[in-house]
Amino acid sequence: MKKKIEISYQELESRNELGIEDQKLLSLAEDAREKAYSPYSGFRVGAAVKLANGEVFTGNNQENSSFPAGICAERTALFAAKASHPDAEIECIVITASGSDYVQENPVTPCGICRQVFSEYEHKQDKPFRIVLASVKGKIFTYDSASHLLPFSFYATHLKE
Ligand code: THU
Repeated sequence: MKKKIEISYQELESRNELGIEDQKLLSLAEDAREKAYSPYSGFRVGAAVKLANGEVFTGNNQENSSFPAGICAERTALFAAKASHPDAEIECIVITASGSDYVQENPVTPCGICRQVFSEYEHKQDKPFRIVLASVKGKIFTYDSASHLLPFSFYATHLKE
């Protein structure tokens, strides 16, 4: 039997179409992006995570001469948030990225490992959180749940029968 699932996202033409809270988070993500340590790729990514308790944590990509030791901005921000507030719900993560010598039209979408991390936290809190991806040129994609970025995710429940 062939089955279908539906994933959806919203496309905005500019940051002005975001709510004021999301605009503030985007500014924080941009500040973080500019502080990225990415001498090897030249690619800078910044993220801002808002928790339900109102606290905001930011992060950026941290590279290393031993390449696999590096980590993405999204996980830097999420792990910082979760290290301080393990039980706080995630409300939203805003992500922005820029290359060193070109400007992308569309937002950069998170890598598979970061999507898996989103998925685990969303599953744990049993409540979807929003994901906002912003391009430098202005176009924005928003998702109401991590499941729209990673359907058929692997969950801890799969580890046991
Ligand atoms: N990167 C992120 O920070 N987030 C992503 O979702 C994709 C990739 C970083 C990792 C590395 O420092 C650089 O971008 C190039 O892959």
